[in-house]
Amino acid sequence: MITDAELIARYDGRVPRYTSYPTAPHFTPAIGGETYASWLANLPAGEPVSLYLHVPFCDRLCLYCGCNTSVVHLERPKRSYAATLAREISLVAATIGRRLEVSHVHWGGGTPTVLPPDCLTSLMDDIRSHFTLLPGAEIAIEIDPTSLTPERLAALARMGVNRASLGVQDFDQQVQDAIGRQQSFEETQACTHALRGIGITSLNLDLIYGLPHQTEASLERTSRLALSLRADRVAVFGYAHVPWMKKHQSLIPEASLPGAQARFAQAKVVRRVLEREGGYVPVGLDHFARPGDAMADAALAKNLHRSFQGYTTDAAPVLIGLGASAIGSLPQGYVQNASAVPAYTAAITKDHLATSRGVALSADDRLRRAVIESIMCELEVDLAAQAGVFGADPAPLLADAQALAGFQADGLVTWDGTRIEVTEAGRPFVRNVAALFDSYLKQQTEMPRHAVAV
Ligand SMILES: C[S@@+](CC[C@H](N)C(=O)[O-])C[C@H]1O[C@@H](n2cnc3c(N)ncnc32)[C@H](O)[C@@H]1O
Ligand code: SF4
Repeated sequence: MITDAELIARYDGRVPRYTSYPTAPHFTPAIGGETYASWLANLPAGEPVSLYLHVPFCDRLCLYCGCNTSVVHLERPKRSYAATLAREISLVAATIGRRLEVSHVHWGGGTPTVLPPDCLTSLMDDIRSHFTLLPGAEIAIEIDPTSLTPERLAALARMGVNRASLGVQDFDQQVQDAIGRQQSFEETQACTHALRGIGITSLNLDLIYGLPHQTEASLERTSRLALSLRADRVAVFGYAHVPWMKKHQSLIPEASLPGAQARFAQAKVVRRVLEREGGYVPVGLDHFARPGDAMADAALAKNLHRSFQGYTTDAAPVLIGLGASAIGSLPQGYVQNASAVPAYTAAITKDHLATSRGVALSADDRLRRAVIESIMCELEVDLAAQAGVFGADPAPLLADAQALAGFQADGLVTWDGTRIEVTEAGRPFVRNVAALFDSYLKQQTEMPRHAVAV
C-alpha cells in the first residue's frame, strides 16, 4: 500500500485550480472591449445568465489574502466605485441589446458589504431594472462576519439576498494572530444568528488549512466549532502562499508554514470531522455540503459546475462579470476587466467596456474544458463519449490518458481505456488528473507559479 508521504512526493507539483479552462494566465490582451461587445451582442437566446459583481474593498487586510482587494475606509471612493458599477451594468445591458433573465447573482470581493448600504440596495435595483431576476433566483454575497453592522444587515434584507458565504479560516487564537485576522467564535456565531434572523438561511463557511501554527489538533477544534454553526456548505481551502503576487503574504514567514505532509494530514482531519461527525458529503476537491443541500444534490446528479468562485450549482452558460478584475465566461470565451480600480473606472467613465484581457475558445479548448470540468466536478469522465459530444477525434485525449498508468497503479483512478473514475484516495489529487488534459500546460517551457497542489 502506498503511503501518504509517497503520494505527496509524487504529486505535490504546482497545478492550476481549474476554475476555468484555459486558465487565467493564458488570457491575453488580444481580447478587449470590442470583442467582448460583439460577444455580448451575440449571446444565445432563451437561457438565463448569471451575474458576478466584484467589490475590491475591505475593512481590514488579512495577511494570507489572495483576493483582489485593498483596505478602504473613506466613503467617497466607495460611492464612486458603486457609481461606476451602476454605469457598467447599464452599459453591458445596452450592449446586449435585449432584456436577459438572470438565475444567479453573486457579490464577491473583497467584502462587498463595505459599500455604503444605500449603494448596495440601489445597485440591486439597477440589476432589477436592466435584467429580469427569475423567481427563486439565487442572490449570494460574501461576508466578513466581524464587519456585519445592523445597517449592512438591513441592506442585505432589502437586496433580497438569500445565500451568504462567511469567511472563517480558523478559530484558533495563535493562528489568528499569525494571519492578522482576529475573529472570535462568538462574533461568527452572532453573524449566523443575525443572517438567519432576517431569513438568510443558506449559509456557507470558508476554512483554510496550511496556515502558520495550525496543527491537526487545532484544526480538529476549529472544524468542530464550524460544525456547531450548522452551515449548509463548508469550503476548505489549502492556503495558497503566493508572495510574488501578493506582497503582504511575505509578512507570513515561510518557515512558519506547514510542509506538504502536514498540510495533507490537516486536510484529512478537517474532512474526517465534517464527514464523520457532521454528516457532510464531500463535493469535488474542496467543498462539503449537507445531504439535501442543492450542492450535494448537484454533485449526486452530476450537475455540478466550476466557476471562478469555485464549485457552484449554477448551470447558466453565461456569466457576466462586473467590477474591477471581474471575469466573465461566455460561450465564445473568457473576458476579464482591468484589475486596477483607476483603469477600470477610466474605461467605464468613457462608456467603454473595461475588458483588459481574455481568450477566445477554440474547438479543442471546448472539448478539453468539458473533460476538465467533468473531472473536477464529477470525478469521472468518459473520454470517447465527451469527444463524441463535440464531434471530435478522441485520439489526442486517449494519448494524454496514457499518463494515467501511474495514477492507476497508485490507486488514485480506475481506467478502462475510455472512462476515468477518480477514487476517494484520488480526490485530493483531482487537479493533477485534470492537468493531464491541459494542453497549455504541456506547451509551457516555464511553469507559471501556481500554488502547491496538496
Ligand atoms: C472574499 S473572501 C470571503 C469574504 C470576506 N472577505 C472574508 O474574508 O470573510 C474569500 C475567501 O477566500 C479564501 N482565501 C483568501 N485568500 C486565500 C489564500 N491565499 N489561500 C486560500 N484561500 C484564500 C478565504 O477562505 C476567504 O474566506
Ligand atoms: S480574506 Fe476577506 S476580509 Fe480578509 S483581506 Fe481577503 S477579502 Fe478582505
